[in-house]
Amino acid sequence: MTQIKVAIIYHSGLGHTAYQAKAVRDGAQSVECSEATLIFAGDAMDRRAELHASDAMIFGCPTYMGSASAGFKEFMDATSRIWLAQGWRNKVAGAFTNSGNQSGDKLSTLYQLMTFAMQHGMVWAGLDLPGGNNSTRGGTEDLNRLGSWVGAMAQSNTDQGIDGIEESDLRTAYRLGARVAQVAVALNSANTLDHKRSLPF
Ligand SMILES: Cc1cc2nc3c(=O)[nH]c(=O)nc-3n(C[C@H](O)[C@H](O)[C@H](O)COP(=O)(O)O)c2cc1C
Repeated sequence: MTQIKVAIIYHSGLGHTAYQAKAVRDGAQSVECSEATLIFAGDAMDRRAELHASDAMIFGCPTYMGSASAGFKEFMDATSRIWLAQGWRNKVAGAFTNSGNQSGDKLSTLYQLMTFAMQHGMVWAGLDLPGGNNSTRGGTEDLNRLGSWVGAMAQSNTDQGIDGIEESDLRTAYRLGARVAQVAVALNSANTLDHKRSLPF
């Protein structure tokens, strides 16, 4: 089977989302024939050749003021020329976010990242996990305990470093990485997508 490449492009101001991104990377890397790379959003345009060569991209950032952090939005806006050429059309995409509150309006950020991927003509892969912590039998240790299907959510206590991230949210992030890689492997073996066109920039 052909090796597929997954790029995880993330922003993190205080380190929590960077830690979540590593869990996403490990999940993507766990899939046979998948090679996953972490790319900081601020470096992503300098590494655009790697992005063009990828089969899948997973976007992640903290939720700041109810939306994607400015550091990630800067990357989004910098891709407009690629968007014009639809250079990432048919690559698989997924997303994750992290914030201090249980909700904290994280869904708003995931919708932003999904819309970004849709504008690029990408193929969205959400989270295929049942909702957790939603019954008397549930608990915070459940996978997908924050109940999102658009992408993976994590909550980090605002007075702690990476120790303040709920462990189940990291396992959920791992599952998102694996899911996106699996979809990319499946689409790649179908061999019907033209998703690595060369671009003049
Ligand atoms: C400028 C700013 C805005 C924030 N806005 C939100 C918010 O809208 N909702 C929320 O739950 N937490 C919010 N937080 C808390 C962060 O999402 C939280 O601390 C997160 O873990 C930071 O991720 P990072 O360490 O990757 O930067 C905000 C923090 C900052 C610094």
